[in-house]
Amino acid sequence: MLTGAGVSAESGVPTFREAQTGLWEKYDPLELATPEAFARDPELVWRWYRWRRDLVARAEPNAGHRALAELQSLVPRLTLVTQNVDGMHQRAGSQGVIEFHGNLFSDRCAAEHRIVRTSEDDRVPTCPDCGSYARPGVVWFGEAIPEDALHASFAAAADCDVFLSVGTSSLVYPAAGLADIAREAGAVTIEVNPNPTDQSESFTASLRGNAGTVLPQLVESLAH
Ligand code: OAD
Repeated sequence: MLTGAGVSAESGVPTFREAQTGLWEKYDPLELATPEAFARDPELVWRWYRWRRDLVARAEPNAGHRALAELQSLVPRLTLVTQNVDGMHQRAGSQGVIEFHGNLFSDRCAAEHRIVRTSEDDRVPTCPDCGSYARPGVVWFGEAIPEDALHASFAAAADCDVFLSVGTSSLVYPAAGLADIAREAGAVTIEVNPNPTDQSESFTASLRGNAGTVLPQLVESLAH
C-alpha cells in the first residue's frame, strides 16, 4: 500500500499540490523542498519546516490513519509505504511503516548526510560533529530515496495481491511507480482519492472519496 499527503489532509496537514493557507500561501512548497532552495536561503527553508513541524505536532491522526492501522490486523500481511513525513501512521498504530521520503522530525547533516541531533535554538542548526548546516531529514526533489526504503517497497509491491494507493496525486516517481510494479506482478490495484489522478485509468478500481470516509468503510466490510 502507498499513501500520500491526502491521507493527512483531514488532520489539517496541507497537501503539496493543493492551495497552501495563511502565512505560507505565497510560497510554493515544491520550490522550498529542494537542495537548491536550502543552499539559497537555509533560514527560509527552516522556517517553513518548523511551521510544518508545529502544525503536525498539534494535529491528530484521523479516521483514515486509524483504519489502516486496523487493516493490518485483518489481513495476513500488509506493507505500508508512505510518502508522508509526518509520522501520523505510526501515531495511529501502524507497524513497520516504510518512510519513502524520510521524516519531518529528524535532522540530517547537509554535508555528510547522516542523521544528527541538533540544538533547537539555532535559526539554522548545525551538525554537532562537523559544524556544517543541518537540514530536515526529508527527501527533496532531485534526491535519492533511502536505499532500504526503496528496496523494501519495490519488493513488497512485486509480491502483493492487492495494492492500495491512498491520497496521492501519483505524480512523483519513484513512489508512483510502485503501482506499476504491483500491476505487472498481477495484483488488483485500487485508488482511494476524492479526485481523479493521471493514473486513475490504470487502476483496477477507483474509490472516489476522502480517506477518512472510504477507509473505515473498507475495513468495516472486511471485518464482518
Ligand atoms: P499531492 O499534494 O501531490 O496530492 C495529494 C492528493 O491527495 C491529491 O490527489 C488529492 O486529490 C488527494 N486528497 C486530498 N484530500 C484527500 C482526502 N481527504 N482523502 C484522500 N485523498 C485526498 O501529495 P502527494 O501525492 O503525497 O515529496 O505528493 C507526493 C510527493 O510530492 C510528496 O511526498 C512530496 C511532494 O513533493 C517530497 O517532498 C519529496
